[in-house]
This record gives sequence, structure tokens and C-alpha cells, in this order.
Amino acid sequence: MHQILEDLTWRYATKKFDSEKVVSDENFEVLKESLRLTPSSYGLQPLQFVVVENKSIRNQLVAASFGQAQVQDASHLFVICIEEAIDDALIDSYVSAVIDTRNVDPERIVNYANYMKKIIGEMTNDERITWASKQAYIALGQLLHTCATMRIDATPMEGFDADRYAEILDLKTKKLRPVLVCPVGYRHQSDGMQHEKKVRRDADKLFKKM
Ligand SMILES: Cc1cc2nc3c(=O)[nH]c(=O)nc-3n(C[C@H](O)[C@H](O)[C@H](O)COP(=O)(O)O)c2cc1C
Repeated sequence: MHQILEDLTWRYATKKFDSEKVVSDENFEVLKESLRLTPSSYGLQPLQFVVVENKSIRNQLVAASFGQAQVQDASHLFVICIEEAIDDALIDSYVSAVIDTRNVDPERIVNYANYMKKIIGEMTNDERITWASKQAYIALGQLLHTCATMRIDATPMEGFDADRYAEILDLKTKKLRPVLVCPVGYRHQSDGMQHEKKVRRDADKLFKKM
């Protein structure tokens, strides 16, 4: 089997983590860098990743996650947030980064900056939230694959109360909205889900030749 397919078959949405096993600092830095390198629409990355270490806060988050204990037992917990302020300042900061990183003449990028400002400026607030949330899902997908290649377990999670998370983590004052949660760590040997076969639609239902 191709190595990539072995990795993707090895991973599963972990239901029970071994709370004794910890992702090393070195490996955790790789996960962070994978998130940082995630592609995004226009490259704007309207995201922030909150890493919750405090176990008593994580205990409160379990209650805000329909009792899903992965939030507490995993080695580390990512809360993937979108920025609420998706405005000209976000675009200006991206444009400055392009100018600095690539040594670009500001004159050469001004039209592109104005184009992005127009597209995003014309969105309703709901459209901006939807657009930014899509970027969060791309980051989640990249994180899941990176974890799998490193034999680190992870659970993609939408099953949580975003308002309660925002309250517990004081995200409103930081102008952040939680969109996804992803505990990472190592599976508990008693988690029966690791032995279940993958349930996926057949390829002939998923792919159409034209
Ligand atoms: C966006 C998203 C949200 C999910 N939310 C949860 C969740 O809250 N809790 C959970 O246990 N699994 C959650 N899952 C896991 C899916 O149920 C799981 O990925 C799917 O059944 C396929 O199984 P596998 O990942 O083990 O191959 C979520 C998956 C995705 C992609």
C-alpha cells in the first residue's frame, strides 16, 4: 500500500486518548508549523489557533463539548478560531508581510491589495464568517494529515458549544470565534474504534469521469 494511504488508514477520529502519553515539544512544534503553513484564500489566514494547556479549563470544556472526554484526556488541545475582524487592516498586514518577505515594491501590489479589499469589503458579515470558516476547515484537514504521518492521534470536532467555549476561553475580548476543536495525542489501547474498518462511499459514487 502507498505510504500515504497507510497513514490515512491508520488515523481515525480518536474517541479515547491515553492521558499518560504526551506529544513531545519537538513534535508539537511540527504540528504548529503545519498549521502555520496551511494554504488559505488570498493567503490571508484569518485564523488563530488557541492551545489550551490548563487541565481545569479543559475540564470545563468537556462540559461544553457534550461530554466528549477527548478534550480533557488528549495531550494537547487546539481550538481553531476565526478572527472576527476581517477588514482592511487584515489585508494591510498581509500586504506588508508580502512586501517584507519577498522584497516586493509596494507599488506593484497596491492594485491587488485594493482588489482583495473590494471583494472582502463587499461581503456581508455572515459571508465573511463563512469564508473564514472554510479556511479553518482547510487547516483542520492539514493538521489531521500531518498528525497521521507522525503517528499522532487526533479528533476533528464540531461537537461543541462555540458560545460556551468563547466564554470559558475569553475569546470575545480577543475578537475570536471558535470554529473547530482538535485534541491531539495518543490513542488509549482500550479505544475500540481503532479496530473498526473505514466506512467510505465507493469510488464510483465519488468520482465521475467526463
Ligand atoms: C468537521 C468534522 C467534525 C467532527 N466532529 C466530531 C465530534 O465532535 N466528535 C467526534 O467524536 N467525531 C467527530 N468527527 C469525526 C467523524 O465522525 C469521523 O471523521 C468520520 O466518522 C470518519 O471516521 P474516521 O475519521 O475515524 O475515519 C468529526 C469529523 C469532522 C471532519
